[in-house]
Formats: sequence, structure tokens, C-alpha cells
Amino acid sequence: MKINKSLIFILGALGGLLYGYDNGVISGALLFIDKDIPLNQYTEGLVVSAMVVGAIIGAGGSGPLSDRIGRRRLVLIIALVYIIGSLLMAFSPNIAVLILGRFVIGLAVGGSMATVPVYLSEMAPTEFRGSLGSLNQLMITIGILVAFLVNYAFTDIEGWRWMLGLAVVPSVILLIGIAFMPESPRWLLEHRSEKAARDVMKITFNSDKEIDHEIKEMREISKVSESTLSVLKSPWLRPTLIVGCVFALFQQIVGINAIIFYAPKIFGKAGLGEATSILGTVGIGTVNVLVTIIAVFIADKVGRKKLLVTGNIGMVASLVIMAILIWTMGIKSSAVIIIICLSLFIVFFGLTWGPILWVMLPEMFPMRARGAATGIATLVLNFGTLLVAQIFPILNSALSTEWVFLIFAVIGILAMLFVIKYLPETRGRSLEEIEYDLRKRTSAKTPDM
Ligand code: BGC
Repeated sequence: MKINKSLIFILGALGGLLYGYDNGVISGALLFIDKDIPLNQYTEGLVVSAMVVGAIIGAGGSGPLSDRIGRRRLVLIIALVYIIGSLLMAFSPNIAVLILGRFVIGLAVGGSMATVPVYLSEMAPTEFRGSLGSLNQLMITIGILVAFLVNYAFTDIEGWRWMLGLAVVPSVILLIGIAFMPESPRWLLEHRSEKAARDVMKITFNSDKEIDHEIKEMREISKVSESTLSVLKSPWLRPTLIVGCVFALFQQIVGINAIIFYAPKIFGKAGLGEATSILGTVGIGTVNVLVTIIAVFIADKVGRKKLLVTGNIGMVASLVIMAILIWTMGIKSSAVIIIICLSLFIVFFGLTWGPILWVMLPEMFPMRARGAATGIATLVLNFGTLLVAQIFPILNSALSTEWVFLIFAVIGILAMLFVIKYLPETRGRSLEEIEYDLRKRTSAKTPDM
């Protein structure tokens, strides 16, 4: 059967949709769980963070696993775990099962965050790698928006079980979709045969010449490469691993999820009613999807570092302008300004840091340790998510809103300096060329290329 190239990438990115959905749905579900299953402040916190704890473990564990059993087989396991987690939550008779369900979903979320970008990156021809990698982010944002809409739709009947359980639908689609997804050619070349790798590349690459060139490069790198564990532990990879982890951490602590998780609360503080706040949140989710569609088209046209720095300038400017206006006009008369400035923040994040982090993480790491290293960076990213999720409400009640946003502005400036000084430019170069450069810069064995 002839497999459609675009379908492979879309199915491959479905894991991102589930991650987005489970990220976005909880704010709505939390409003009603308490009516069925009594929650206190402590158990409410556990319901939110159990998923992130699961994601930390899922990301850490699935990286090495994807190097061992293959990206495709791992996605199959992830889809099953998603289904189990969603059902546990939808039918939970008590708080313990609910928290367990969130934890199980977290395992799948962490697993897909670490595996999907690697899969897409390894499947894509060089000149489209940025765009195809950005599909993951597009799916994440669609997942978040769908969750906001589902929350809105089930608010009347207080249907929190529906909100949490509906994640089963895309999980089943993912499970079926895997039947049509080929394994990553880079993994096949390493673990199976050149023929198997070529067969897959024939679907996604444009010409035999391109395939020959890529295979030759992969073979050269493969000749000098050590085992996954020794690459992971080798001193030459350490700086890159640290840079990847700090990069992932910055993506979270610039403040994006303070908006995604808490937008209704921020709007509420500015005096908007409940329904308007939820609608405002849907608006933010929509802007997020729309700009990510644009990002898919520009990801390979502009250098990655230039995009990231532009994003930082835009995000910091939106925050600073918002803080000054809230300070001069008072929070209660700033609702419109807050909506505009938060949307601008989302525009800049969605065009740059949102997609580019997921494109660049797998690009930065060498083939043998790509899955594992991306997993480790994703694990650190989830710590960042947890940090923001826990600290933002505390900051928001202890400080005035403008100061909270100024703190994120300062972090945005630090993130920009980090990009300028430490990130390599990866656009327009094959994964093997990037690895070759990394090896040349460090003390690692270098192939003749
Ligand atoms: C981030 C998520 C965030 C989403 C928002 C992703 O790139 O990793 O944490 O919720 O973007 O669109």
C-alpha cells in the first residue's frame, strides 16, 4: 500500500495533540471535580501536578527506550498508556484513582514529548526539517484549543469526566495511525538494514541522489559512534546536553504556561466575569494555533537563532508594556490591555520559542544518543513546567500582577543572552553535518566527510 507522505507526518505529530489536550483540559475540569469527589487544596494540587511528575518519569524513561526498541514501537506503547490513563480518569470512583490516572497520562505525555520530535526530525529531509518539526507544536496548540473548547462545551452539565475522558478519541486515532507509520530511517539503518532505511526514505525524500548522500553521511557517523550509553556519558557531549537542558528550561520559565494554565485567573483579577474569562482563554488558544500555522511556513526560511532572539524581544516588550500600563492605570481598568498584551506574548512565543525548541532539541544531539538526550532535556522542561505551575499562583497572590510579569520579562532577557551565546545554528544542515560539527568542536572521534 502506498503511504501518503503528509499523513505520516500528521500521524507522527498526533502525540503532540494529546500532550496539548491534557495540558489544557485540567483548568476546566478542576472547576467541577469537587462536586463529585471532594478536593482540598492539597489534593487539588496533586491532581494538577501528578501529570507533570508522570511526564518527568515518562520523558526520562522513554528516551533510552526509543533508542532501544525504535521510535514507532514506543509510540504504540504511548498510545496504549494514553488510553488507560484517560479511562482511569473518566471512571475514577475516588481521588486516589483520579490522581493515578493523571500520573499515568503524565507517563504518556512525557513519552510523546520526548519521542515525537525525534521521530519527525529523523523522518524529514533537511530543507523541511524545521517545518515538519513545527507540526508537533501545531498539534500541541490544537490540542490546547480543543481542550478549552471542550471545557466550554461541558461547563453547563459540569461534565468533568467527559472533559478528561475525551482524550481517548485522539489516543485511539494515534493507535490506529501507528499501523501506517514507518519506523525512522536513521533508527532502521542503525538497528536493521540499509534497505529498510532506504524504503522509508523513498517515501519522504525527493530523489535517490539525496537518499544516497544521507545514507553515506549516516554510515560515516555510525562508524565512529560508540554505544548510546557511552555517547551519553562522554565528556564531549556534556556541554551540549547542558545547553539542551537549559534551553528546554528557559522555554518554560519565560512564562508561557502561566498564561496557558492561569489565563482565566489573570482575567478574573482584572475584573472580568467567569464566562468572559473562559471566552478570553479560548481567544488566546485560537491565536496560539493561528500563529503556529504561520510558524510552520517560516521555520525553514529564517535562521533558528534569529527567530528565537526576535521572539524574546517581542515577548519581553509585551510584558514590559503591559506592566507599565497596569501600573499607571490600575489593574481593574486594564482588562483589554491585558488581553492584547498576553495575545502579543502568545504571538511571539508561538512563532518562535514554541516550535523552535521542539525542532532544535533533537537536532542538537548525536544520532546514537538522540532519543535519550532529548528525553533528558524534556525531563528538565517538565521540571520547568512544574515550577511555573506551582510558583505562579503564589507569586500572583503575593505580588501585584505587574511585578509578576516583570519577573518573566527579566527571565526573557536572560533567555535571549543564552541563545546568542550558547546555541548552535542548525537550519539548512543535515543532522549528520550538525553532528560532525559537534564532534569537531569537541574531543570526540570525527568521521572523514
Ligand atoms: C510548550 C508547552 C506550551 C505550549 C503552548 C509548547 O511548546 O512546550 O509547555 O504549553 O507550547 O503552545
